Amino acid sequence: MVAPENLDLVVQVRILTGQFMKNLKAIVLAAGKGTRMRSDTPKLLHKICGRPVIDYVLDITRALRSLETYVVVGHGAQKVKDAVGRDVRFVLQDRLLGTADAVRRCTPYLKDYSGTVLVLCGDAPLLTKDIAALLIRKHLRSKASATVLTAIIDEPHGYGRIVRGADGAIRAIREQKDATLTENGIKEINAGVYCFRSKDLFGNLKKVKLNGRKKEFYLTDVIELLLADGKKVETLISGQKEAAFGINTREDLAQAQAVIRRRILSRHMANGVTIIDPLTTFIEAGVNIGRDTVINPMTVIHSDVRIGRNCIIGPMAHLRPGSRISNGVEIGNFAEVSRSSIGRGVFQKHFSFLGDARVGEGVNIGAGVVTANFDGVNKHKTTIGPRAFIGSDAILVAPNTIGAGAVIGAGSVLAGHRGVPAGMVAVGVPARVIKKVANGSI
Ligand code: UD1
Ligand code: MG
Repeated sequence: MVAPENLDLVVQVRILTGQFMKNLKAIVLAAGKGTRMRSDTPKLLHKICGRPVIDYVLDITRALRSLETYVVVGHGAQKVKDAVGRDVRFVLQDRLLGTADAVRRCTPYLKDYSGTVLVLCGDAPLLTKDIAALLIRKHLRSKASATVLTAIIDEPHGYGRIVRGADGAIRAIREQKDATLTENGIKEINAGVYCFRSKDLFGNLKKVKLNGRKKEFYLTDVIELLLADGKKVETLISGQKEAAFGINTREDLAQAQAVIRRRILSRHMANGVTIIDPLTTFIEAGVNIGRDTVINPMTVIHSDVRIGRNCIIGPMAHLRPGSRISNGVEIGNFAEVSRSSIGRGVFQKHFSFLGDARVGEGVNIGAGVVTANFDGVNKHKTTIGPRAFIGSDAILVAPNTIGAGAVIGAGSVLAGHRGVPAGMVAVGVPARVIKKVANGSI
């Protein structure tokens, strides 16, 4: 949500985006250890709604058309490199010497660049491109050397505090460990998002001294150095408090997930999807849903799923990656679909599993139907022709092909790669083809 006072700016920013982003490069700090996650996986590769944390940050640099994005990697560098898209450059920080040192590693690439550098933290996925764009806009309009994104939050614990003078202008960013009692009472915090004039940033980075307490070089010290140099430093108070939210623990991960989940649901609702109960509906990133589809409570939909228009999904349905659901499909309670394409108007209304299946239009999947797609070693495919009728509790052992309009009797087990020709009836265990379908029924 954008604060009302920022709304008109957001509109302007959208119009201006193409205009002022022409000379923007970005640095994403992503070398930190993430010790408090207690994990073998680097912190930034933990997933939120099906995507690694860092992807949300890179969405912003991509949306702002950063000419070049440098991702500073260190802890778990190879894993991060393997997981992140190829449109960024990786810069190695072999020793974790703090945020100023991390940025300094980019000097060889940026020392001759005279545009704007946007610095973001890879572990802060709730920042939105609109807020980042507002920051850049203010930075350029005010002709500042640096512009810092801040937020006013009730529990500033752990964040750097924004110290302002009597005139209201920023004087310094004080890390909690170094702050006086009074400074620690300040509720305005550093979101860890900055715009810099490239030359001013790299000119001052080398002057940053090692912080004695933390044995790190703080990027935040650049602010005081710039001010001492007579340069202009601006701030933008984020209308979205959560813009600053950084992930350090699994608890934080769950909190960030709740925000992003809600954003995803809101986007689907804005697109014309009815979500009966947002509190119990889990839809990951990377899902398309057509208008007038209804998602009933307690439904889980993973990334890489596409659902057409006018479908009814759930309650308690589970749609897994690679599923393509056509228009007018009904998938009911305890029904699971994985890596399958489901044709127009298919009914799969009660507990059942379709995996690696291609289901033609108008097929009826009875209660309890299972495509047994895994033989213990490999996965196999099942094809069901249009308008076939699969009776309750039928087990279709894959690979298997059921012809158009075929009927499989309730409780049948279709095994041994036999398949059923179009328009025929098969029943029994193991199933045998017994006759032709008469007038569309057995
Ligand atoms: C930092 C800021 C603090 C701000 C907060 C916002 C400093 C000194 N402090 O604190 O003012 O309120 O972010 O979240 O900058 N990183 C590296 N290399 C390093 C150290 C960190 O790449 O050597 C990366 C981390 O992976 C992380 C980001 O930089 O993505 C921030 O580092 P972190 O250690 O979390 O800084 P904070 O203590 O949170
Ligand atoms: Mg942090």
